[in-house]
Amino acid sequence: MSETLQEIAAAMMADGQGILAADESTGTIKKRFDSIGVENVEANRQAYREMLFTAEEAMTKYISGVILFDETLRQSTLDGRRFADVIKAAGAVPGIKVDAGAKPMAGFPGEKVTEGLDGLRERLQEYYKLGARFAKWRAVIDILPSEGLPTIGAISANAHALARYAALCQENGIVPIVEPEVIMDGPNSHHDIDTNYKVTEDTLNIVFDELYKLRVDLTGMILKPNMVVPGQNGPQVSPQEVAERTIACLKATVPAAVPGIAYLSGGQSDELATEHLAIMNKIGGFPWKMTFSYGRALQAAALSAWGGKKENVAAGQAAFTHRAKMNGMAALGTWSAEDEREAA
Ligand code: 13P
Repeated sequence: MSETLQEIAAAMMADGQGILAADESTGTIKKRFDSIGVENVEANRQAYREMLFTAEEAMTKYISGVILFDETLRQSTLDGRRFADVIKAAGAVPGIKVDAGAKPMAGFPGEKVTEGLDGLRERLQEYYKLGARFAKWRAVIDILPSEGLPTIGAISANAHALARYAALCQENGIVPIVEPEVIMDGPNSHHDIDTNYKVTEDTLNIVFDELYKLRVDLTGMILKPNMVVPGQNGPQVSPQEVAERTIACLKATVPAAVPGIAYLSGGQSDELATEHLAIMNKIGGFPWKMTFSYGRALQAAALSAWGGKKENVAAGQAAFTHRAKMNGMAALGTWSAEDEREAA
């Protein structure tokens, strides 16, 4: 008997757990490998992902789902177990990134629109057979107030694509993670938190308008938003303010029917990404569950502890387990800076 969208979404939002975003494309993982001097070849990508997915304590206790890249969904452990089966055996849900990346948008200099709708129905049907039960599509919204960015045109085009994608996922028994990322980093990121708040609010309003128009079932999706933060080079604020502004922005825009919010880390430091999530869950008082769907903030320490060497697999797994545990506590709102120091 196949599970409903609501059952899959509930499993992805299990208490004290969150999602590991390990869906770096071959180009993106090259950047990560370059930072540790590891060659970007299939054997190394396989070894790195095997290290993560076989970290038993992290995977069974703190990880509810893993987002994979196409190549990774087709890979296996060296002893022949398909990664999707390893993830399932650990009690987590395998997922798949299905967008084809953010491309320059015609007529909108400096802005991008995410592509990948052509042939998506057939790809989703194949991914389902390969074991994927949720998917991810990331739209990118850049802030550059001096150039009038973002424009309504770019936000609307991205929101429409997200809604088309989400509807196709649901048609095929797959829970869509809807990810409209308002970017915080980059060389021109001098804006303040109010600017991010306004852009995030506009973006989420337009995204939910499109989801409604295209008949997406809000009870069978997960939202993956940015937190409301100042630009990386803008005036910084306290973690408490980030938490309060983020909750306020989402309360103003995200319908209560949505079962879960799973944040991206977006270039925040590991510990700050944990702290923000912990404060939000401590504050509480919102209708959705809130957890993590971190890429960099879950993997950075593990990546450098591993360094591409077989003899470091246990150290890499320990680093991953530590971050997963801290974020698991943040999802419950029980994390404190003392936990971080004690466990380190
Ligand atoms: P980061 O947490 O590194 O932002 O990545 C999450 C993700 O999946 C972006 O699409």
